[in-house]
Amino acid sequence: MNVRLQKLIAGTGIASRRKAEELIIAGRVTINGQVVRELGTKVDPERDHVKVDGKHLRAAQPYVYLILNKPKNVMSTLDDPEGRPTVKDYLHGVTVRVFPVGRLDFDSEGLMLLTNHGDLAQALLHPRYHVPKTYLIKVKGVLDDAKIDALERGVKLEDGYTAPAKVVKVSKAESNSWLEVTIHEGRKHQVKRMIEAVGSSVIKLTRIRMGPLLLGDLAPGAYRFLTDREANRLRELVEDRITRVERPGLDASGKPVPWTAPQQPAPPRPPKPARTGRGPKASGQPAPGRRTRTVGPAGLRSKRSGVTDASRGRRTTGGRAREGTRRRP
Ligand code: URA
Repeated sequence: MNVRLQKLIAGTGIASRRKAEELIIAGRVTINGQVVRELGTKVDPERDHVKVDGKHLRAAQPYVYLILNKPKNVMSTLDDPEGRPTVKDYLHGVTVRVFPVGRLDFDSEGLMLLTNHGDLAQALLHPRYHVPKTYLIKVKGVLDDAKIDALERGVKLEDGYTAPAKVVKVSKAESNSWLEVTIHEGRKHQVKRMIEAVGSSVIKLTRIRMGPLLLGDLAPGAYRFLTDREANRLRELVEDRITRVERPGLDASGKPVPWTAPQQPAPPRPPKPARTGRGPKASGQPAPGRRTRTVGPAGLRSKRSGVTDASRGRRTTGGRAREGTRRRP
């Protein structure tokens, strides 16, 4: 069956559809030895020899992306030294070794992404991309507006202030209520700790969204492969990082990244002057904004050797989504 060249390349996981088009236009793709710059050129993946930067796409193994609705009381890891059930027990029929992207607590439920695309997984977890995660939670009591405001501004936890969250009231009953909380960080037990910080506690927590992925009506214990479109959107989200890992030294459009001097370490801070306890701060300086962030150098370099191209890219079966879902074991 003939497919469009950019679709075939994107399906290997080395690039999103948009990036694949850039590769073609840049003359980095050949079909049967001929450079092809024409977008939409049709190829027969079974017969044509497609190369990107001289490397065969065919050599590739498929990338697999799936989402599982992790049930409560299941570890979000692949094995557990204590012998508790793990997400692996729910992956019947998945013959490729996939890894969970991030964690959910043992007693939490909901959307878990699993993939064998290591660079994508690492990138999605990187704080730089602020991939939003939404949790539907049942909390004890009803949080008033002041508490919801506090959650939205950021609350103090023992490991520092949280970044602003988005909180949507869903419903309330006599003794508890439901909220949707969206955060961009991934600290341990973060949502539970945030709710505790405003004086309540979480009774039930379900992750219903991660970036462009929605849990939808996937039953607890069931999984499904991502659609082409979903896998593509994930890649787009972290494209610049993937490009840097897979093609170190080049930017997303394939141009060399300009050299930038390494940053000097920040000079040590002067000691804080003693506070008198009254009036403005003794230093006369405004209090440091607690959510001021220092942005690091743009070039997040991978420690990997950076083997490059399509030989590392693999064909996606996430793309060829299998319809239907698998049920719990
Ligand atoms: N926040 C939590 O507290 N627990 C989870 O499992 C996920 C987010």
